[in-house]
Amino acid sequence: MDDLRDKYLTAIAAAADEAALEDLRVQAVGKKGEVSLQMRELGKMTAEERQVAGPKLNALKDEINSALAAKKQALGDAALDERLKTEWLDVTLPGHRRRPGTIHPISQVTEEVAAIFADMGFSVAEGPQVESDWYNFDALNIPGHHPARAEMDTFYMHRAEGDERPPHVLRTHTSPVQIRSMQDHGAPIRIIAPGRVYRADYDQTHTPMFHQVEGLAIDKDISMANLKWCLEEFVKAFFEVDDVELRFRASHFPFTEPSAEVDIRCSWEGGTLKIGEGDDWLEILGSGMVHPHVLRSGNIDPDQWQGFAFGVGIDRIAMLKYGIPDLRAFFDSDLRWLRHYGFANLDVPTLHGGLSR
Ligand code: PHE
Repeated sequence: MDDLRDKYLTAIAAAADEAALEDLRVQAVGKKGEVSLQMRELGKMTAEERQVAGPKLNALKDEINSALAAKKQALGDAALDERLKTEWLDVTLPGHRRRPGTIHPISQVTEEVAAIFADMGFSVAEGPQVESDWYNFDALNIPGHHPARAEMDTFYMHRAEGDERPPHVLRTHTSPVQIRSMQDHGAPIRIIAPGRVYRADYDQTHTPMFHQVEGLAIDKDISMANLKWCLEEFVKAFFEVDDVELRFRASHFPFTEPSAEVDIRCSWEGGTLKIGEGDDWLEILGSGMVHPHVLRSGNIDPDQWQGFAFGVGIDRIAMLKYGIPDLRAFFDSDLRWLRHYGFANLDVPTLHGGLSR
């Protein structure tokens, strides 16, 4: 019995893992284990012998069982220690910040423009992007034969075979919203109409879809002077400069008379654009006094009312203000570009809080 005890206690102490321990348990105290076999021998003994051997064997069995349990516990603890060492995690490390999305420069600039004109009493109007030929052209004093139709590289919608009506178009400018707003609200009126417009053109400064913001102010006594003041206030606020010089250059649009294109004084020194200084001029918008025909299309009496209108390229002024060199990149949805040029999503532009900070 002493030999058995020494044999198993030594083996248990040396067991490397739980599998080895289980083998030892089977060998010693399993059904056919050495200790169990010894216990079976008890039946062949005399009563006196049994009285001595019985308790000793039981004690040996208990001793081996407790040694097995203790070793099992020790092996378990060691395994846990090992795992804790390898799976160690520093919960005090800073977490990974999720990258928030950004506001596209077009959206940002549209908000900025709306904030500036809201301050001058203009509300925001909208119109459809698929527009009828009449709203996009005729109502704006651009009759069927007018060269402006060809110049605008218009996208035409499909008409069924045999349908003789003029096809709808993807609007080539936001000016049709002038007509819709006049029809809906009458005079007096003060609106801006930002939105998408379409022309078949594609290079570094042209994309087939781009953005304009239309302006329209109609009242009893509106003059070119009001137009000039409004645009100067707008440009100063938008480019966040105290002084700008605008140049009104005589031009021609079928829907305004007189018409003027507006240039802004700037410099290109050192390859960067500066607004408000220098010897260069940069065209930023078209404008003029609303043509009487156009007022009539909008059901407004040109003998009683007059007004000004203008159209600004949103993408253009976004490129200028934020130094973005290629217009095409605006619409590539490249995340790196969006992160670089995009705006924080909670920085809503306001005049009092700052437009672009
Ligand atoms: N609709 C003109 C364009 O797209 C811009 C414009 C609008 C000019 C209003 C004058 C008045 O070029």
